[in-house]
Amino acid sequence: MTDRVEMEDSAVSYDEYGPVLARFKGEQGDLIPVLQGVQRAFGYISEEAMRHVSRFLRISENQVFGVASFYSQFRFTPPGRHSVKVCLGTACHVRGGQILSQALERELGILPGQTTVDRRFDLQRVACLGCCALAPVIQTDDEIHSQMTVIRLKQVLSEYE
Ligand code: FES
Repeated sequence: MTDRVEMEDSAVSYDEYGPVLARFKGEQGDLIPVLQGVQRAFGYISEEAMRHVSRFLRISENQVFGVASFYSQFRFTPPGRHSVKVCLGTACHVRGGQILSQALERELGILPGQTTVDRRFDLQRVACLGCCALAPVIQTDDEIHSQMTVIRLKQVLSEYE
């Protein structure tokens, strides 16, 4: 059995995905750059996007999902109005990054990779935010919060609508 799928229609309408897909030749090796392009354009990889990518590259939807879900850079839910990143790199991990991550999950009621129901926040775990000397670190939108504590988390989150 092959992972390749036949094009159902050679004149597939790519609708709003057209401008993203038009930059590629439709080769299977383009899968990751195509997914990156879709995520840049729409903020996440929807089921519909995976169907379009599958047809465009002539590979199965399972293969598209399998690759996309392997890489933490891809998200499958729409982003929130504000992004929260918690660092679990070595420096942050040894200084309580995991505890911060669990506290954020409790506070927001979501897991990493998810978005709150009100779309206020999305939560991501990252491997390093590039400021290890300030560990443990979280980032809200473009702002770095250094030497973060569980007690300060609520205060930081309350600053965002
Ligand atoms: S490990 Fe957290 S900023 Fe580098």
